[in-house]
Amino acid sequence: MSVLTDAEPTISFSSAVPLRLAEGVKSFAHGCGGGGGQPRYGVALAFDSLQTLAHLQEMDSIASDSRTSEEIDKLFARSGGSQYGGEAVTQLEHGLQAASLAEQEGAPDEFVVAALLHDIGHLLHDLPDDAPDNGVDDLHENLGAAWIESRFPASVLEPVRLHVESKRYLCAVEPGYLEALSEPSRVSLQLQGGPMTTDECESFQKGEFFVSAIRLRRWDDEAKVAGLATPPLSHYKKYIEAVAIPAEAK
Ligand SMILES: [Fe+2]
Repeated sequence: MSVLTDAEPTISFSSAVPLRLAEGVKSFAHGCGGGGGQPRYGVALAFDSLQTLAHLQEMDSIASDSRTSEEIDKLFARSGGSQYGGEAVTQLEHGLQAASLAEQEGAPDEFVVAALLHDIGHLLHDLPDDAPDNGVDDLHENLGAAWIESRFPASVLEPVRLHVESKRYLCAVEPGYLEALSEPSRVSLQLQGGPMTTDECESFQKGEFFVSAIRLRRWDDEAKVAGLATPPLSHYKKYIEAVAIPAEAK
């Protein structure tokens, strides 16, 4: 990472933003990309021009006195109807389809929740749906991970945090994977650093959550079917409540 590590990043945090959350996002921004890839310039624009962290602050305060499933309901109610990038599904439809695929495979509860929430970072800012077309990477995997960190265990957090890196990995190692990506996903790939280098792939494969991250990526890629019927968001409440960190443990 050159741009974000060689100089003070241009991310600014409101003094009212909880330090833990602000530092979490800041460190994610420094650490994203896995090293060696192209710099993720979009972060500066995304954080500077929007009130992303105000949303995170709002959600963080809610976490102290409300159940996590209610927060998720509110996020999807507010922004879930927005289009999923340039795809033919909304953010809510995409999350529900991913969760449904995980459930149909009989995946552990943690994976079902990770699939449902893998793009929740897109709901935490007000960037337009076509931001990637304008050269803006919203770093949604890191925003989402920062939000998830205080609410779910690592088995949910890490696959979400790594789902973009999984795409970069699969583009590098799996013949035909890149070509099969949707056009919006190929556009965002360039902003996300492009296919991993050989060294990045070797490092990524050694990660504790490598297998689960790749598994999540497969569901993500398939969850773009226009008009597909899925269970509603309320169906996944039992999974969320089974996996979420209890309020008294936060
Ligand atoms: Fe996705």
